[in-house]
Amino acid sequence: KSILLVGVPADTGSRKRGCLMGPDALRTAGMVERLSRLGYPVTDYGNLSWDAAPDVAHSNNSVHHLGDYAALISALDQFCNTELDTDQVPVFMGGDHCIAAGILPALAGRGAAEGQEQFVLWLDAHTDFQTLESTDTGNLHGTPVTYVIGDPGFDGYVPAPAMAIRPENICMMGIRSVDPAEQARIAVTGIDVHDMRAIDEFGVAPPLRRFIDRVHRANGRLHVSLDVDFLCPEIAPAVGTTVPGGVSFREAHLIMEILYDSGLVTSVDIAELNPFLDEQGKTSKLIVELVASLFGQRVLDTHRRSI
Ligand code: ARG
Ligand code: MN
Ligand code: MN
Ligand code: MN
Repeated sequence: KSILLVGVPADTGSRKRGCLMGPDALRTAGMVERLSRLGYPVTDYGNLSWDAAPDVAHSNNSVHHLGDYAALISALDQFCNTELDTDQVPVFMGGDHCIAAGILPALAGRGAAEGQEQFVLWLDAHTDFQTLESTDTGNLHGTPVTYVIGDPGFDGYVPAPAMAIRPENICMMGIRSVDPAEQARIAVTGIDVHDMRAIDEFGVAPPLRRFIDRVHRANGRLHVSLDVDFLCPEIAPAVGTTVPGGVSFREAHLIMEILYDSGLVTSVDIAELNPFLDEQGKTSKLIVELVASLFGQRVLDTHRRSI
């Protein structure tokens, strides 16, 4: 297995600017070196680029950058279908969480071509399950999950997903900020939601192991989507939508370690990192360490941990 890093400097999913610096902050924090040291061939593809698109109007006037959303989704679909080799594990460095809307259906389509179903572990404070009609902020980074499961509300605005993700194949962890409109809909989708209350009570390992078991039995592919606001703001301040009471340092590493042990992870994205809000690279460095754990860095491998 080799790792392909690709920067996706999307910055239109909310009104706060800065996520476009995410890929370079992760490079600066040593992403390539850290993963290479684990023994993988690592290629940095550089950043994807796509043309800014004229805005597309929607009856919900708060929605903004809908044209850019469509352009981003097309660019990611194109990338996944032409630039990715089957033996490569892509690590998409965002960019705001809109990137998931482009990545997931494209990867699911590739998996389907090989008879494999796509599963998604969604690590986030938010469910990102708004619709174009229901979003009050109009921030499209709050909508990718709705889009990837094939909601018809995007028809005519954004290209249809190459392959929709089955809601039953999505597991969410870390959830602690859900809008009323999302609450009503998420309950009936079949998405497996583990909020912070559940994590406080039962920990991260049992639900994660159950999910991994399902992926394993289905011989599925597993994408990990890591929104920086999944983490506690004290350890990860560099995100525009911090929510108190997030996942701790060790809980986050444990998730990554269990995922590595499963051997099932086929792709990763890191979303919402906003280096403009960081404290001297603190969040970027933490994310690099978490990705290293996801690719096999062990607590006891002390010789590898000289930062
Ligand atoms: N639910 C809120 C909204 O729709 C927050 C979404 C936050 N999403 C994210 N990817 N950080 O505006
Ligand atoms: Mn979030
Ligand atoms: Mn909202
Ligand atoms: Mn998110």
